[in-house]
Amino acid sequence: MAKPMNLKLRVWRQPDARTPGKFVRYDARGISEHMSFLEMLDVVNEGLIEKGEDPIAFDHDCREGICGTCGMVINGTPHGQLKATTTCQLHMRHFHDGDEITVEPFRAQAFPVIKDLIVDRSALDRVIQAGGYITTRAGSARDANEIIIPKDHADRAMDAAACIGCGACVAACPNASGTLFVAAKVGHLGLLPQGQPERSDRVRRMVMQMDAEGFGHCTNHFECQAACPKQISVDFIARMNRDFFWAALFAHTAVPVPKKR
Ligand code: SF4
Ligand code: FES
Repeated sequence: MAKPMNLKLRVWRQPDARTPGKFVRYDARGISEHMSFLEMLDVVNEGLIEKGEDPIAFDHDCREGICGTCGMVINGTPHGQLKATTTCQLHMRHFHDGDEITVEPFRAQAFPVIKDLIVDRSALDRVIQAGGYITTRAGSARDANEIIIPKDHADRAMDAAACIGCGACVAACPNASGTLFVAAKVGHLGLLPQGQPERSDRVRRMVMQMDAEGFGHCTNHFECQAACPKQISVDFIARMNRDFFWAALFAHTAVPVPKKR
């Protein structure tokens, strides 16, 4: 078994969105290579609590890479540099004894800091509320199985549905654009028969809400795809842009303009 590691951390500490933040140095000692990145932070926090200091605030829930709650920028990359991996699934065996690791929150105008490494990602929820649903009665599992769906459509819809809404694509983008997230949600429902009735309204509502939330525009840097822990392809952005173009030209219904935050 490998020797426990001693690491040096530079962690962003910020009490709230109105107070300036700063990097604070901490030692992470006796870290097992089998720990996840979040477990390593748990160890640091136990030490801080024992000393009567404020523990580092960070988001987490499932710790299994499926909920999208965790997320921080590790050495300049959202979720760290291991491909297709969430922060909670990043293990310390990918670091070396003596490493210095810089940990920051996701930085984007649409993601204000709540505390330390926790940011408010409710803008993504509001984009979903704007159009990420169907009104068709889908019936029971048997009904769903009786709807014929071309295999490639089902496969592509499943690829898009893998998006866990973590927001790493926003944090990775130089424009802090939410386009990959929105494109995944639009693509997921727009590829299935049950998603067709609202297809045109959906893409317009979700894109307009994305703009209202203060996300930047996509200028094809593709950093989003590189950072995405679920490997959502930028092909979905092209698909969403085509949907939006046709919806803007031919839709017969008006969609409400969302309020700016
Ligand atoms: S597209 Fe990828 S990076 Fe963006 S929210 Fe979905 S899972 Fe996270
Ligand atoms: S805590 Fe759920 S994906 Fe990381």
